[in-house]
Amino acid sequence: MTILFSMLAPHVPSICHEENAPSFQQEMVKDLKKTAEKIKDLKPDVIVLVSCHWPSTFFHYVDATPEHKGMLTAFECPDLIKDVPYFFPGDAELAAQLVEAGEKNGIKAVSVNDPYYVWDYGSVVPLRYLVPDEDIPVINLSVTLAASLQETYEWGKTIKKVLEDSPKKIVFVSSGALSHNLVRGRENKPTSSEHAMDKEFLQLIEKKDYESAYHMLPQYARLAGVESGGRHLAMLLSVIDQENQPTIGAAGQSSGSWNAVITFQ
Ligand SMILES: [Fe+2]
Repeated sequence: MTILFSMLAPHVPSICHEENAPSFQQEMVKDLKKTAEKIKDLKPDVIVLVSCHWPSTFFHYVDATPEHKGMLTAFECPDLIKDVPYFFPGDAELAAQLVEAGEKNGIKAVSVNDPYYVWDYGSVVPLRYLVPDEDIPVINLSVTLAASLQETYEWGKTIKKVLEDSPKKIVFVSSGALSHNLVRGRENKPTSSEHAMDKEFLQLIEKKDYESAYHMLPQYARLAGVESGGRHLAMLLSVIDQENQPTIGAAGQSSGSWNAVITFQ
């Protein structure tokens, strides 16, 4: 079975609770909810999600915990994201296959199986919208800071191969922003230079020129401060292919960052 659906999902902390979302982020909330209906219709067996807020130093962690249950108060913004409960099934079997494939390909993939491991908000925030019933198993992946964009892309290709060989129906979510040189003031947009790069990246995606989008990542990430150094985008680009139809959805600013919903079907 191939990957049914992939997406870039925003996770700006101010949308964690819908009632707190400022007007310029409400279109993203609507789009995430609309995407949730699509995901529900597809009836996936598992969601594989890479989160910019699980930055690991050396290893590519794969959350193989059979049940993800916890209460999240975010270190970074405990005022905005406080005592948020979550309870999702996991998929230990598929997670083990991902780690095994990574090891075989010389990638430093490591399994995590720990009921006390608390999810980051890059996982919790989009999943609150995308899977409101918490009824689809989830495997979380870290972004690895010691890994280059190229290594992250290779890891993504390894993941893609495992997912394609699996009989399961998969949805892949990359949780993170585009430009991300943060400043105080949630209403602030990226600078015009940073945003020009966002627009170029989005245009390449719209034209399905995924290769050029990948090749612009190193400079784009450096100059526009793309979240996680663009690793979540490298992984997203590694799991999609030419037959996937992109839809550029709602977008908006958050404290100098630019965030977009992009889906690939
Ligand atoms: Fe973030």
